[in-house]
Amino acid sequence: MNIQTELFQSRTIEHLRKNGNSFIDPAFAGNKSLPIHRWIPWIAGFSSIFVQDVLQRYLEKPGRVLDPFSGVGTTLVEACLLGHEAVGFEINPYAALASSAKVSSLKINSGTLKQPIEEFNKFCSRSSKSDYVPFSKPPEAFKTRIAFYNPKILKKVLTIHDFIATITNPVVRDLFNLSFGATMVRYSNYSYEPSLGTRKGSGKSEFDDYPVVETMKSKLAEISEDIQRIKSNSSVVPGDGIVIKDSFFNVGNHLKRNSIDIVITSPPYLNNYHYNRNTRPQLYWLGFALSTDDMKELEERNFGKYWQTVRERKNIAWDFSSPPQNLIKTIEKLRACNPEKGVYGGGGWANYAITYFNDCYRLASGIKYALKRDRSAFVVIGNSILQGITIPTDEYFGEIAEICGLKLLEIDVPRKTRIGNSIISSDVRVTKAKKNHALYEAVVVLKKK
Ligand SMILES: C[S@@+](CC[C@H](N)C(=O)[O-])C[C@H]1O[C@@H](n2cnc3c(N)ncnc32)[C@H](O)[C@@H]1O
Repeated sequence: MNIQTELFQSRTIEHLRKNGNSFIDPAFAGNKSLPIHRWIPWIAGFSSIFVQDVLQRYLEKPGRVLDPFSGVGTTLVEACLLGHEAVGFEINPYAALASSAKVSSLKINSGTLKQPIEEFNKFCSRSSKSDYVPFSKPPEAFKTRIAFYNPKILKKVLTIHDFIATITNPVVRDLFNLSFGATMVRYSNYSYEPSLGTRKGSGKSEFDDYPVVETMKSKLAEISEDIQRIKSNSSVVPGDGIVIKDSFFNVGNHLKRNSIDIVITSPPYLNNYHYNRNTRPQLYWLGFALSTDDMKELEERNFGKYWQTVRERKNIAWDFSSPPQNLIKTIEKLRACNPEKGVYGGGGWANYAITYFNDCYRLASGIKYALKRDRSAFVVIGNSILQGITIPTDEYFGEIAEICGLKLLEIDVPRKTRIGNSIISSDVRVTKAKKNHALYEAVVVLKKK
């Protein structure tokens, strides 16, 4: 009997809600100072310590770890560092670049970045002293309300791009691109608040000039230092990690049935946080998006899509049989809210919520397909408030997973307060929701029977 089975076999359905007793707080904040995880700020990530803890407790020998929504790679990096094999799915090419560069960096020699960094320093210092005219161009299709970079900064950015274009080693090039992606908004006229908006809009002044090259250099130094630190501190040979740049809904095209030992993941929440809009600068500047069509395609493929994408469609229907009765009732209540607001009222949000829960069913089906029997999935998910109605997303997801044929073992709430996001602070909020409802984050534990 494996640890997962042993631990859970005596639990009954009444004991499923654990109220914070079982897991470490999954909030990403802790990652900000940790080697490798600190390379990229990511609002919707989870903590490496949470992943480490789950892996150490529930995967007793080297195994195959899956993250269907790998984001910037927290699960993958931790799994590889503990000697497991890791597989991730990610549709956002910038996030996929980040996770894949991180796992690849575990396999390179600690000094690999030394020479390219020296060459970068020389190249930038030479071009700053001459009348260097960069050959790189800003991405044509990247339209912004105000200039993204002021001219002096733009010239430095394009010079950096000229250098990156000369790098032939793909891992080194990815790490340079990642350094640019991680820092590029910092020297722009935009900022994350946490959604992307103009600096002026949030009361900050624009930058006429900025030490762009120095910022890149310190990011590269951080990356190089972390690779060396990890190499010298770890006695475990890191496992292989891959990132599949496709939707998890196509899992059957990439993985064999019953091939995964554990799933640790966090899907997008029902909060309309717009991964694609918020990474628009990176997607365009790194050449992943060439037109608005590319952005639209990403929106369509995103788990749960977005409110903006579905609000104007005819009433969206359930696409799996027998959705939980309490979920149906909640959605009906939501649909009936604020009809005078048209698509901005309950109807538009009900469409979004149904799309989201339809995708929860597809997620549960994918997990069921990929997991070996008796193995578990740990899904971090936040609840939500739409039009003032609290939606216990964790409970509904657990029930949907059961409908799909998985066993719901436990729902733990290690994080009882979570900062609201676009929904709470946008013009579609219902102000009293702030006072009356708490946002939390839960870990839903499922087992394949
Ligand atoms: C909550 S974040 C995951 C963060 C991750 N746990 C981390 O620590 O970096 C959810 C991720 O799912 C990705 N995503 C959305 N829809 C997807 C799909 N259909 N297939 C694969 N990835 C998807 C988003 O781009 C986003 O990066």
